[in-house]
Amino acid sequence: MGFSEEIGIDLGTANVLVYTKGKGIVLQEPSVVAVDEETNEILAVGSEAKDMLGRTPANIIAIRPLRDGVVSDYLVTEMMLKYFIKKTVGAGKFFRPRIMVCVPSGVTEVEKRAVREAATQAGGKDVFLMEEPIAAAIGAGLDITRPEGVMVIDIGGGTSDIAVIALGGIIANTSLKVAGDKMNEAIITYMRKKHKLYIGERTAELLKINVGTAFPREEEKTMICSGRDLVTGLPRDVEISSSEMLEALDEPLHQICEAAHGVLEQTPPELAADLSSAGIVLTGGGALLDGIDKRIAQRTGLQVRIADDPLSCVAVGTGKALENLEVLDRSRKKNRFI
Ligand SMILES: Nc1ncnc2c1ncn2[C@@H]1O[C@H](COP(=O)(O)OP(=O)(O)O)[C@@H](O)[C@H]1O
Ligand SMILES: [Mg+2]
Repeated sequence: MGFSEEIGIDLGTANVLVYTKGKGIVLQEPSVVAVDEETNEILAVGSEAKDMLGRTPANIIAIRPLRDGVVSDYLVTEMMLKYFIKKTVGAGKFFRPRIMVCVPSGVTEVEKRAVREAATQAGGKDVFLMEEPIAAAIGAGLDITRPEGVMVIDIGGGTSDIAVIALGGIIANTSLKVAGDKMNEAIITYMRKKHKLYIGERTAELLKINVGTAFPREEEKTMICSGRDLVTGLPRDVEISSSEMLEALDEPLHQICEAAHGVLEQTPPELAADLSSAGIVLTGGGALLDGIDKRIAQRTGLQVRIADDPLSCVAVGTGKALENLEVLDRSRKKNRFI
């Protein structure tokens, strides 16, 4: 892979993406590391590690070190970040890139220092950190410097980030630990209660992606779902419809909508009025859930648009922020870049 002087990294709870100037997204891998529990040795990183899940001896475990939007394991996070940077930059290069990393918003100052340290050790010359809402907004093509304000909702794996941004700074925001993972858990719980069927996380995610919905679908969709019968202990198939998924996903969706409503309540009235024409932009993998735009529109009364390629907005935003140091400097004063 070729060399770039500027690298933007979305260190997400579910996926890591790397953006380089001129090339765009050059790497997109799950934030997963496979570790040998007995020796603590790291065996694989990214998609290779995810593929090992469920196919490996019991002593090999897969860790998602940022799962809940906090760094649960420094060492593993550092290893993962270094691995992805080295993979992007290539070994044995003389130049040291400038790196912008976007970290989940629950990450503490101490954890941020660990991330910065890891990026520096991996060869970064200047390393900047950036919070998610601004990166998401820039990546979605919104002009965050305007006085009118924009609202962005990023629904990732571990966290949903909701923010109103104007003049390069965050006016009102919240981050909640309810996003894609909680949706999967809600589906697992639903299947256990309603169908007495035990399903794993992967199956739950497939149900969510294929038949899941946040708003009644015009045309009902169904999917055959395999699991283990809780009573007999034997494998069993059940046909699941999208209206069942609507019910299963109700709680996490309700929480996300209420949080969005809460951020609007914190927004100064003039800005809130501007938003009624500009609307809300959705980013992150959760923006791909069927009907989520309609659900949020219904609760907030605002127009909702799904960003183009919502999974890559944050990474694109980090790269663009590096390219646009004016915005960077101004926002840094507002403590959005650290
Ligand atoms: N088509 C889809 N429908 C619903 N959810 C999706 C879809 N595609 C991906 N997701 C979910 O998006 C989440 C990952 O989004 P991402 O923005 O990469 O998270 P993070 O930024 O936290 O790493 C996962 O929970 C995944 O299940
Ligand atoms: Mg994200």
